[in-house]
Amino acid sequence: MPDEKKLLRNQKDTNDDMINLVDNLNREDDLKYNRRSFLKTAVGATVALGLATVPFSIKAMMDKGQGDTQRVKIGELADLPKGEALNFNYPTESEPAILVHTKDGQLKAYNNKCTHLQCPVFYESQQDVLLCPCHQGFFSVENGHPVAGPPQRELPLIEVEVVDGTIYAIGRKIRHDA
Ligand code: FES
Repeated sequence: MPDEKKLLRNQKDTNDDMINLVDNLNREDDLKYNRRSFLKTAVGATVALGLATVPFSIKAMMDKGQGDTQRVKIGELADLPKGEALNFNYPTESEPAILVHTKDGQLKAYNNKCTHLQCPVFYESQQDVLLCPCHQGFFSVENGHPVAGPPQRELPLIEVEVVDGTIYAIGRKIRHDA
């Protein structure tokens, strides 16, 4: 009788081992196939995304080379005393910009969306800087470069000219790889 018990127990162990072995084989296969299909999907998605961005990259390269050259009237010089600023839009109605008549008589214009997180930038005449109040970002009035705070890139420069007392925006230069 004890022998029979032992035989039964051994048989049970052997069956359990077989089940475990089969389980292990299946698990390893599963892992292998899952890894392989994951890699295939990841590579496929990367290639697809890369291809999808090609037209945008080409457009960005072309835009960068050309700049904007529309001629848009901003206002009358006589209406803008030194040390003051006015807002306008350039090159389209949806792109806000700021023109500063500096204390020393220069005209400086930039698109006024902060290059950090797009808040509007204002002229702060006391400190003679362009200020973004959202996170205290400061830009130079002289050249639009960031001088303090989170912004890392300069504001797009808008070229202006004065003809018979009227100020025009005549072009825009985006000087960074936005
Ligand atoms: S949005 Fe201008 S500093 Fe953050």
